[in-house]
Amino acid sequence: MVALRHTFEQQLAAALPGVDITLERPKSGELGDLAFPCFRAAKQLGKNPAQLSQELAGSLAVEGATLVAAGPYLNLKLAPETRAKAVLGAILETPADRPYGSRPANGKRVIVEYSSPNIAKLFTIGHLRSTMIGHALAQTHQFLGYDVVRLNHLGDWGTQFGTLLAAYTRWAQDRNADLRLDFDWAEPAPEKRRTPLFRLFQLYVRFHADEESDPAMRDEARDWFKRLENNDPEARVLWKRFRELSLAEFQRIYDRLGVSFDTLEQGEAFYEDQLLPTMQRLEDAGLLVEGDKGARIVNLEDVGIATPCLVQKGDGTSIYATRDLAAALYRKKTFNFDRCLYVVGTDQVLHFQQIFAVLDKLDPWFKGRMLHTPFGMVKLPEGKMSTRKGNVIFLEDVLDEARERVAAIIEEKNPDLRDKAEVAEILGMGAVVFFDAMNDRVKPITFTWDRVIALDGDTGPYVQYAHARIMSVLRKAGGDWEARAQAGAPSGPVVPFPSMPLPPELSGVTAPEAQALLFELAGLPGAIAAVLEGCMATPLARQLVAVARSFSGYYTNCPILAPENAPEVRDARLALCVATARALRQGLYLMGIKAPEEM
Ligand code: ARG
Repeated sequence: MVALRHTFEQQLAAALPGVDITLERPKSGELGDLAFPCFRAAKQLGKNPAQLSQELAGSLAVEGATLVAAGPYLNLKLAPETRAKAVLGAILETPADRPYGSRPANGKRVIVEYSSPNIAKLFTIGHLRSTMIGHALAQTHQFLGYDVVRLNHLGDWGTQFGTLLAAYTRWAQDRNADLRLDFDWAEPAPEKRRTPLFRLFQLYVRFHADEESDPAMRDEARDWFKRLENNDPEARVLWKRFRELSLAEFQRIYDRLGVSFDTLEQGEAFYEDQLLPTMQRLEDAGLLVEGDKGARIVNLEDVGIATPCLVQKGDGTSIYATRDLAAALYRKKTFNFDRCLYVVGTDQVLHFQQIFAVLDKLDPWFKGRMLHTPFGMVKLPEGKMSTRKGNVIFLEDVLDEARERVAAIIEEKNPDLRDKAEVAEILGMGAVVFFDAMNDRVKPITFTWDRVIALDGDTGPYVQYAHARIMSVLRKAGGDWEARAQAGAPSGPVVPFPSMPLPPELSGVTAPEAQALLFELAGLPGAIAAVLEGCMATPLARQLVAVARSFSGYYTNCPILAPENAPEVRDARLALCVATARALRQGLYLMGIKAPEEM
């Protein structure tokens, strides 16, 4: 395929000197495997695109393929067996550590910063976006040859700890006991929510509610944060415990999601001792000026940002932005990265514009290396979620509900299934995570249970089902077939499969439905690369649906294990099954979704 592409490009370049030769993927495999859009070349030559494509089709020739003019496009179409050989060879014959669609190490380092929840708040469905988009970006970068550092900028510092300390000491503290979070609450928490973190969350919500009518409480909270910043031992001890409790709970959720970070120790508090030096550097560079009430700011008007970046408050304390500046400087020194991605919601667009602009002024090294990849907020039908007000949807509730819905379906349709509970968990997760990826990254999502947990249509379970169905065909086929599609333990983003020789005869997969499936499989590497271009998993998710859908056409129209099949027909068809199972499993894995063997 690579060789043919090269020949095609060379021929076009020779026929059209000085024209940019960019090939595309035709809309369907019926049209061909590669398309050259003639618009630009035709314009340059003062011709009509359709006429140019006709001329080229008549004058060029690529061995092993036909050239067809289709309106303004010149399509290259492989002979059916050539296509089968190219695609199956690329998927099946590759070594286990260099899977289909991956690329060799490129010597570039990327930091992906994602998830970054705030301590003492619960993980809501909103956090899923940053966590899973970030996970997919980290996985995909690594798959495509980047050295990836996975960071979590945990919100473990800031004025919200003042609120929490004030609330806790007001209502929950038993001074003789260790952190007491089993206190009686006017409104008892639901059974499964009687966790320490949920108690902290309730304290936080109650404080903000009461504060409305009692503004003095605000000073109380501010006071506590001051004590924390000034190393007051009582404040410190409590803060540390809050942090540990939260981390334990976050860790449990990350384990459930199959997500991990290089460290959870580089949250906001980690940069505490670097805040003064950071402010000093800005001062030395002559960037800090006096703002309102003794605050220190960096003006950004000259670079088109009207709002200055606040770096230091009037009382000398740092803010969120100061910690981000310190973090960026630390990351430069420690990781010497080529790119740093911040997977954070659209509500922080201005914040990152400011941070990046300040960094550019401070050190030109940062120019072009910093990238905010914003994502749309998850909204409830009645409006934005708000932790402060307590109207939120918890991520775990969503995952549990999804699992229960799947379990009910399994109970009804396939009660004898092995590992029922595990399959229900995998499919439930697949539904939720895939739903998220199918949504445009930047548009807001309105949360409704039925949409998020949908099991039919373009969903995770649909793709997962295709995988399980293939595995069942391979099991029935006997011999080594199942083993060929069974993965070893993943290493980084790679799901390793043993390399397997192609069947010598591929006439079994020349039918249109088999060709359509091969065409969609051929689209996967491009879709994986598009994940990096758009910084979202959507192109990969869509392509996986296209593969699953065309598998279904193949399965219906090309009997795989029919007794009348000649052995070479059966082998070629099974090989296509193995290739599809591998591609689906690897693709889902990049998104953080598992592929069941059976369902
Ligand atoms: N903790 C913040 C939040 O929950 C997100 C942090 C984003 N990352 C950063 N480097 N500022 O809103």
